Amino acid sequence: MATERTLSIIKPDGVEKGIIGKIISRFETNGLKPIAIRLAHLSRREAEGFYAVHKARPFFNDLVTFMTSGPVVLMVLEGESAVARNREIMGATDPGKAAEGTIRKDFATDIEKNTVHGSDSPENAKIEVSYYFPEVQVHPYDWKRKT
Ligand code: CMP
Repeated sequence: MATERTLSIIKPDGVEKGIIGKIISRFETNGLKPIAIRLAHLSRREAEGFYAVHKARPFFNDLVTFMTSGPVVLMVLEGESAVARNREIMGATDPGKAAEGTIRKDFATDIEKNTVHGSDSPENAKIEVSYYFPEVQVHPYDWKRKT
């Protein structure tokens, strides 16, 4: 197993419900460390760029409208097999199909208001992390200051 980084977003419904702490706690208790965290209110351009892969999908416009409807929490999570582990902790995209004990099963409303986003592959994780975080804003806990 390799240590990986993945991008996590707590979507506007998660922020609105006041469960930022509960969600981050699930990541921490399952071995994923938040090594960068930032609250942001995305512009349409930012959200469209982030979800560009879905541009042709019928839900694209609604997705962008929802993701810009309120603040989100942007995070980089680091840990063993972080991409796959994060997806297990989140549960299926459609909360109706999510397993018991997952974030989406416990907190999400529907497939749009599904509370969290997570990168779907290590390749996309690299792209998504760098979309929101320059390396200087990422702080692995084992990093030692040399001066
Ligand atoms: P996310 O993991 O952020 O990636 C794309 C998002 O599109 C997805 O979660 C859903 O919230 C949203 N979405 C809305 N409708 C659909 C759909 N029919 N199929 C897949 N994703 C959808």
